Amino acid sequence: MSFDIIKDIQALKKEKDIAILAHYYEDGPIQDIADHVGDSFFLAKQGQIVPHKNILLAGVVFMAESVKILNPEKTVLVPDSNAGCSLVSGSPYDQYLAWRKQYPDALCVTYINSSAEVKSISDVIITSSNAAQIVGSIPKDRRILFGPDQHLGKWLSKKLDREMIFWPGACEVHVLFNAKRLFQLIQQHPDAVVIAHPECDDSVLQYATVVGSTSRLLDEVKNNPVKKFIVATETGIFHQMKRLRPDVELIQAPVVDEGCACNDCPYMKMNTLEKIKVALTTFKPAIQLDENLRQKAFISLDRMMKITSGQSIQWPERFDG
Ligand code: 13P
Ligand code: SF4
Repeated sequence: MSFDIIKDIQALKKEKDIAILAHYYEDGPIQDIADHVGDSFFLAKQGQIVPHKNILLAGVVFMAESVKILNPEKTVLVPDSNAGCSLVSGSPYDQYLAWRKQYPDALCVTYINSSAEVKSISDVIITSSNAAQIVGSIPKDRRILFGPDQHLGKWLSKKLDREMIFWPGACEVHVLFNAKRLFQLIQQHPDAVVIAHPECDDSVLQYATVVGSTSRLLDEVKNNPVKKFIVATETGIFHQMKRLRPDVELIQAPVVDEGCACNDCPYMKMNTLEKIKVALTTFKPAIQLDENLRQKAFISLDRMMKITSGQSIQWPERFDG
């Protein structure tokens, strides 16, 4: 990695009034040049807080779309417009709409890992860091549709003792963690604390002492005095974990296939410093959203922002889309 490219990015950021926001799954050098690094809720929130006129979101496209939905006046750049997510591609708008229409009296709770179109037909958006708070605020007599991540939904349903109807989506990275091999690893390291992201299958989550968003897992490594963790989430987060706790041993939870690099998210890893420099120079690719769609998607995202900041909201009686 050249020192020049970092200097160039820093100069461009300043000259063009751009804040760089990066997700924990990005490569270390990208996290290091960012103004703020965090989980998907933190990044959506930072988009509203940073004073810069423009934002480059080094993460996946749905994260940048969320920032654009909340801040239409800002130019929101991404390093690579092909940086998708299996949860987004696994919940096409037409099919999600047809599913949603089957339960018009229910409230549709949608994970932020979804397209702007899917957000536009949802009642509220959640992330793994605020899901319990948001679902907990829904009146007990309301039926809940939860999508597109069935594993996050099932974990939440168990945690809150609340029935839900699930969309059958999954994260292609987190479903590869393997419970049988994890069990064997725990036998070899009985002194390790297992931490896992709720996108993992329940068979893996049953072994975890802590289940939470990327920032929750990072907090655990920061604050728990033990010296060894088995980590069931994407590898990018090891960068901050090592920075915060150079004294601990971090062991990657095993995936189905020994020796494969399948706990790297292929979409997050599409981003590079070179692509960031091109985006800052050319102002492309930038997120473009139809204004009518943006306004509809804003409603469900804004409900998430309001509930998490303690404001009261009105739930719709029925879906009439
Ligand atoms: P977090 O909100 O926990 O950062 O998760 C985002 C994500 O895409 C996990 O795969
Ligand atoms: Fe999507 Fe999974 Fe990648 Fe997160 S890790 S962005 S859920 S594919």
